[in-house]
Amino acid sequence: MFNNLQINDVSVQRCIKSGCRESYGLSERLYVCRRCGGLLEVEKPFAAMGHASALRASWQTRLASSDARDRSGVWRYRELLPFGEDAPVVTLAEGNTPLYEAPRAAAYCDLPGLKLKHQGCNPTGSFKDTGMTTAVTQAVILGARTVICASTGNTSASLAAYAARANLACAIIVPQGQVSSAKLAQSIDYGARVLEIEGNFDAAMRVVLELSEDESIYLVNSINPFRIEGQKTVAAELLQQMDWEVPDHLVVPGGNLGNSSAFGKGFWELRELGLIDRLPQISVVQAEGAAPFAHFFARHGDAPPSADPPGDFVAVDHPVTLATAVKIGAPVSWEKAWRAIRGTNGQVLTVSEQQLADAKAIIGRDGIGCEPASATTVAGIKQLVQRGKIRAGESVVAVLTGHILKDPDYIMNYHRGTLDFEDGAPEARRRLKGTYANQPVRVKADRQAILNAMDQ
Ligand code: F0G
Repeated sequence: MFNNLQINDVSVQRCIKSGCRESYGLSERLYVCRRCGGLLEVEKPFAAMGHASALRASWQTRLASSDARDRSGVWRYRELLPFGEDAPVVTLAEGNTPLYEAPRAAAYCDLPGLKLKHQGCNPTGSFKDTGMTTAVTQAVILGARTVICASTGNTSASLAAYAARANLACAIIVPQGQVSSAKLAQSIDYGARVLEIEGNFDAAMRVVLELSEDESIYLVNSINPFRIEGQKTVAAELLQQMDWEVPDHLVVPGGNLGNSSAFGKGFWELRELGLIDRLPQISVVQAEGAAPFAHFFARHGDAPPSADPPGDFVAVDHPVTLATAVKIGAPVSWEKAWRAIRGTNGQVLTVSEQQLADAKAIIGRDGIGCEPASATTVAGIKQLVQRGKIRAGESVVAVLTGHILKDPDYIMNYHRGTLDFEDGAPEARRRLKGTYANQPVRVKADRQAILNAMDQ
């Protein structure tokens, strides 16, 4: 029914800076505005589409379809995307992730209306797949031969998989010794060229930005607006799961700040289309040792919303956290994330390593589990409830971004009581408490010994 509404040809890439707003065609391979260096975003004229109820009905019908695009929780919402009907879609049936009730996490936060949207249940175990399907499809459209990214492990695992599906050469740049072996193993198995650099994620990001000046190399970090396009559809999937009841709050971890930006864009566009009439408050939670955005918010959070954020963003030179996925000091998408937070009256806050570790263990006890970075959400929500920023009766969705098996070493160390956090200098090493530890017990292969141990 909506096939004719693929108005791909009138979509553009537009600079987000209010004083610039330069536009570029969709087939231009660029990552920032050529005129002013600002971030770019895809702009699609939704006003022409109308028919919110017909769109909803169409998306509902597709849930029962066996078409590969309809089986994808991203391409099912293709009216939102800047691609034509004949796009060479590269998909692994991403999205389709569960929205869970989580009674123990809810009790821990003192918030009965808490739900967990588990983006770790994507094909490569993280939310990155929802954006990689669109970014790699765009790479194919542009005729790219080589795709590249900097990563703390999940973007790279995702890119490696989608590049393999699309038969593209793939190189991933990761900080040596700072990526969990589970994530590295994925990229290796999917056949990517794995390049480990001395230095952290921010250094890796700087070098891929330089490399992307070479026309033959296509960069798919979230600075690439086509990544954000895929990730924004999670807002539609979530609302469909909630029968289009908008939650009061949506809470996401913050690293490079692509995900929060994407949710902001997704909800805005759904409102523009008339599918919803209000926005959830979007809040971002950072680990306290890697929290440049939270520091910025602490300075400017009370400023009236304005078209452009204040220009004095300060990077953290040496970010530290055991949640290696979000060990990032210079997030590239902070300006877009700022709009999402300020435009929805959300918060940006930090949690300690101990709070993060305990929240992660609680999420596990609900039979759900997640990787450490994802648990910033539940730890942050607990704080927001305590501070009265979230009220007891409100509905809140925490976005879990990565699968529990992404970082098993962290889990074992927490439960064994050997989770050490080095706060920069070795003398600053702290051992975190295994507050909710569940230690394995060694026991003889003997019936009575096992029964005794079970009772303890
Ligand atoms: N959670 C997980 C599990 C992540 O892997 C990341 C980012 C984030 C949260 C933060 O999301 O960057 O959109 O604010 N991981 C990137 C990577 C940096 O390379 O895998 P963000």
